[in-house]
Amino acid sequence: MTFRTHTLGWLTAAAASLLLSASLLSVPVSAQEGAHEQPTPARQSWTFAGPFGKFDRAQLQRGFQVYKEVCSNCHSLSIPFRTLAQPGGPEYSEAQIKALAASYKVKDGPNEAGEMFERAGRPSDNFPWAFANEQAAAAALGKSPPEMNLLAKARKYERGFPLFLIDPFIQYQELGPDYIYALLNGYSKADDPNYNDYYPGHKIAMGAPLSDGVVTYTDGSPQTLQQYAKDVASFLYWAAEPSMEARKKMGFRVMVFLIIFAGLLYFTKKKVWADVHGDAVTTH
Ligand code: HEC
Repeated sequence: MTFRTHTLGWLTAAAASLLLSASLLSVPVSAQEGAHEQPTPARQSWTFAGPFGKFDRAQLQRGFQVYKEVCSNCHSLSIPFRTLAQPGGPEYSEAQIKALAASYKVKDGPNEAGEMFERAGRPSDNFPWAFANEQAAAAALGKSPPEMNLLAKARKYERGFPLFLIDPFIQYQELGPDYIYALLNGYSKADDPNYNDYYPGHKIAMGAPLSDGVVTYTDGSPQTLQQYAKDVASFLYWAAEPSMEARKKMGFRVMVFLIIFAGLLYFTKKKVWADVHGDAVTTH
């Protein structure tokens, strides 16, 4: 009897959690219309994937360089300069951040005369955007580029059955960077600069922003489109969640705690039921 109720309980719990995860996962899938005509971006290997994932500092610094020299001409990334110094990120020194901030002009004010003025940036300022507003960006580029803060988390695509059932178990969460990498490498028609294999509908207002050699690395990494794309996608993933490393570390500690706790519960239960049943405890 006890055995049957236990099994039934477990089965119900398992079925419920399967249903729950399936329904949670199908939300972004159904929200994305017409996603079928694009090929699925290939899964890349990222140092920050999985429960023990960590960013590669040198890669984040290269990715920031690509962002700064190329993407920031159009896209905004409204994070404070000093975020780039915090642990778990590119970890620039305070002095480097001060110098970086000071190289930008930031709007401030109004002063006592009631006027806005420009001053050198400080580490606590956000990166300023190259455009005054979205209308100005749209007028110059045909369409206002999306802000980059959450881009690497916001872009998802359909992985299809059965992968979407497996992904939570293998903790596959890097769809955003995989998409960005594929997109940056997806300009396949030499005669149409606005054709992209991976952009929904293929017509993208952004011409290929990267090609071999456009950014000069100082650490000897290959100066190729593929390397730039990987580095900037990593950087954008970090920018979308600057405390990812701390979260994963904490998650691991919680798991260890739960395992120890489950063990303690098990032995407590055994002990308590042993007192109740006497020798009959083996029937459980
Ligand atoms: C010349 C301006 C320009 C530059 C430089 C540029 N972008 Fe864009 N980007 C745009 C515009 C405009 C859009 C909107 C395109 C659209 O929706 O049709 C866009 C859209 C995007 C998107 C979103 C695509 C989607 O699914 O909606 C990503 C990702 C992106 N850019 C990444 C980058 C990266 C990474 C860089 C730097 C390596 C970069 N961009 C440099 C103008 C630019």
